[in-house]
Amino acid sequence: MQTFSNNIPEHVAIIMDGNGRWAKEQGLPRSAGHKKGVETLRQVVTTSGEIGVKYLTLFAFSSENWSRPAEEVGFLMGLLKTFMKRDLGKLRDKNVRVRIIGGRENLQLDILKLLLEAEESTAQNTGLNLVIAFNYGARDEIARATKRIAADVKSGLLDVNDINECCVSSYLDTRSIPDPELIIRSSGEQRLSNFLLWQAAYSEFVFVDELWPDFTKDVYLCAIDKFKSRERRFGGVVPQKVAVTS
Ligand code: FPP
Repeated sequence: MQTFSNNIPEHVAIIMDGNGRWAKEQGLPRSAGHKKGVETLRQVVTTSGEIGVKYLTLFAFSSENWSRPAEEVGFLMGLLKTFMKRDLGKLRDKNVRVRIIGGRENLQLDILKLLLEAEESTAQNTGLNLVIAFNYGARDEIARATKRIAADVKSGLLDVNDINECCVSSYLDTRSIPDPELIIRSSGEQRLSNFLLWQAAYSEFVFVDELWPDFTKDVYLCAIDKFKSRERRFGGVVPQKVAVTS
């Protein structure tokens, strides 16, 4: 039995992996795995709100995923569009604020419009921040940020001596979003796969064996419990209890 009162990570980021393998195991097309994966995604959003997570970042589509077969890419785009159309009202009512990270250049206009609408229409919400990483790659994010920093230095908006970690963070897609305290990856793979490379500097990692469509509420809560039991030192040492002698 889990308790949620304290030490809930403020920001959980998830690499939703294993849809294809799940479908293969069931003798179904990969698209069936992605469809079931959206159900898991909805349940994770609900649970995150219930237990008091403030930021939930989901790796929905990487900048490398465009290299998948056109049919699969098309299906994933369709799922995203359906999700945005069907679920946005509910998310808005549940006080969820939607944010999108990832490159926006060269996106299909209808998708870009839906993403912007989701961000704009929930901008005033104060509950869970649902951050969807779409067309996202961390190296691409850092390269885009670097380009903007260089442009601001060139135009005189930014002094080169003011470039520090805080400044770089403020040029990333995740500006104003705290770094994830916990990163979860499903399906037994233990890689970051170009996800939040800068922001993961001090994150705790929990890798679970379940494929994403099998990532139940219990699996999620277990991962949160694992996080709670970790000792986080941020490069320092654990404060020692000093024995008091009289
Ligand atoms: C990884 O499984 C999953 C993805 C590449 C896409 C995740 C997308 C969704 C859950 C649904 C779409 C998102 C939204 C926001 C509606 P995989 O295909 O890499 O699985 P495999 O490693 O077993 O092949």
